[in-house]
Amino acid sequence: METTESPAITHNEWQPRIVAFFCNWCTYTAADLAGVSRMKYAPNARIIRLMCSGRVDPQFVLDAFAKGADGVLIGGCHPGDCHYAEGNFKMLRRFQLLKRTLLDLGIEQDRLRLEWISAAEGEKVKTVINDMVEKVKALGPLNLPGRFAEWDSEMTKLETRVEAGELAPA
Ligand code: FES
Repeated sequence: METTESPAITHNEWQPRIVAFFCNWCTYTAADLAGVSRMKYAPNARIIRLMCSGRVDPQFVLDAFAKGADGVLIGGCHPGDCHYAEGNFKMLRRFQLLKRTLLDLGIEQDRLRLEWISAAEGEKVKTVINDMVEKVKALGPLNLPGRFAEWDSEMTKLETRVEAGELAPA
């Protein structure tokens, strides 16, 4: 008998989704160079081009995780090379803050990464993406949207019990 059900996804088949915020002047150009030079890297990264790593608002990173990313990679110019003087230093400060916030939320540190990659470092883009994909694969799916749904359902159950007077103080 034929079935339309899709087979269950095993851990080996699962592929992490990485959102990559790359600075236009360096890391994005390096990713382009890697592509033109036919360097093979994992296809898991969805690259978003920004004019500077300093443009990465911490909310972008939190939104990416909330919408289903398993990892977030940020690429910027090397210190001293930022086209907007100190955008990458601002990013570095936000990165430290984000790391602590994610840790508080129970999100593993390896899911967020910041790298300085110049326009000439196509090889480094390849190495960093491949390495990050391997590390996130080892951690497994983050599935924040699924976790949010679970928390919502727990809160709804709790509200129902409170309304029913089941949890009234003695
Ligand atoms: Fe590249 Fe600022 S212009 S990090």
